[in-house]
Amino acid sequence: MTTFTSSLSPDSDALAIFVSEKLQYKDKKGILSKNLIQKINSFLVTSKAKNKEDEIISFDITDKQKCFIVKIKNKYESFFPEEIGGRFFSHLKKMKDLNKIDLYIDSLNFDKQILVSFFSEFCLGFNLKSYTFNKYKTTNKEKINKKIIFKIITSHKEKLKKEYKYHDAIKEGVFLTRDLVSEPPNILNPKKYTEEIKKLSKLGLKIEILNEAKLKKLGMNSLLGVGQGSENETFLAVIRWNGAKSNFGKPLAFVGKGVCFDTGGISLKPARFMEEMKYDMGGSAVVVGLMKSLALRKAKVNAVGVVGLVENMPDGNAQRPGDIVKSYSGKTIEVLNTDAEGRLVLADALTYAEEKFKPQFIIDLATLTGAIIMALGEEYAGLFSNNDELSKKIFKASENVNEKVWRLPLHKNYDKLIDSTIADVQNINYAGGAGSITAAQFLQRFIINKTPWAHLDIAGMAFSKKAANLNPGGATGFGVRLLNNLIKEYYE
Ligand code: BES
Ligand code: ZN
Ligand code: ZN
Repeated sequence: MTTFTSSLSPDSDALAIFVSEKLQYKDKKGILSKNLIQKINSFLVTSKAKNKEDEIISFDITDKQKCFIVKIKNKYESFFPEEIGGRFFSHLKKMKDLNKIDLYIDSLNFDKQILVSFFSEFCLGFNLKSYTFNKYKTTNKEKINKKIIFKIITSHKEKLKKEYKYHDAIKEGVFLTRDLVSEPPNILNPKKYTEEIKKLSKLGLKIEILNEAKLKKLGMNSLLGVGQGSENETFLAVIRWNGAKSNFGKPLAFVGKGVCFDTGGISLKPARFMEEMKYDMGGSAVVVGLMKSLALRKAKVNAVGVVGLVENMPDGNAQRPGDIVKSYSGKTIEVLNTDAEGRLVLADALTYAEEKFKPQFIIDLATLTGAIIMALGEEYAGLFSNNDELSKKIFKASENVNEKVWRLPLHKNYDKLIDSTIADVQNINYAGGAGSITAAQFLQRFIINKTPWAHLDIAGMAFSKKAANLNPGGATGFGVRLLNNLIKEYYE
């Protein structure tokens, strides 16, 4: 919880201040007592404080109150405030009995706008790092769910509140993505997923759910084939946000792979780590989280999210390796491996998004290939695109928020590898390697009208057992901040 005031509170457990690299603290606004400023400055010359490695240092003001000092580099461009916020949370988490904290921010030598951005980004990082998913824990909840009450002391209250609200909308989107990805697959089946999506209509998003009967009528057999072996019904969900002044503006389209569980189907996966395939709906969860953020911050843009929600299971009715299906585009697909199902889901969703909404661009997100993890690990998402301009914008946005992407090539020689001998295309290649690229080539075949398109393979990014700067470990929400930044910087 965060509130904004202009004076110190008498009963806080700690005061946090921010000091630039020069390590000389001045309080131009006269909020802190002379005595305290003296204490701070004499602490800053001690060897503990001078140790460059430590960004966050602290001393006791009294036996009941601590003072945290967060050292900040002089140049705003040279660091990410979110990450300092994340590290600040980790630091506080280790300390007991800290509940109420005053953050005094005005003393940094930044101009007003930069100061306000800095702190709202700092708080976003702090909040992102504090995420927990403990609804299935019946004991120890209290301990895990440590709540810290922040009071931000500033004379730029109104401006900061506005910026904070913007970043809070992003946080809410990321948290929704993480919640969806964290849910176990017996709970978040495609039907339950549509119910979660429908809840977003109260924010002004327009939701349309296409069920199996509708999908059959439309001819989405590529998507339907994936769900054929599951007791759970398959759906396509469409989420629209119309925030642009003119409602006639072409929308931006975001398409997501929502495989609620991927057993591999008849091409069954090995048991070890199969449980991780609950996060195979991670791409769709980014789309849903992004749409929530856009609605909460009332983005001045028209956007549409299209997600294919399905479960890939083996049973007596399941799709077989060797089956041929006719996709929504009319192209026929030979399904050589039922575990390469993500591309089958996206194929119909991509063509549908392109044909129905005639968008300015389409960006799809998917936990598509294990091969992208071999290539880029958990550091970069793979970026593939038919359009250099769109690609550059995505790259720039990814740098802005430090959600890293790396572009990999598309080429007609890779495309040839997925020509089928008896259908138009086959869903895997047996020769030539480059599994992530041939998967992207497959997707490109379902962009029919040359709409600018980009594909983000987030198999290595959606979930991580390790904690990182901005997440506590588990579902990361990677992609929400990146796409939000892309929209804000180039399309509003
Ligand atoms: N969902 C997987 C990809 C994946 C693997 C995501 C590991 C996250 C972590 C996808 O559906 C899949 O199984 N792909 C196969 C494709 C292969 C059969 C051509 C793969 O990557 O092994
Ligand atoms: Zn698979
Ligand atoms: Zn999959």
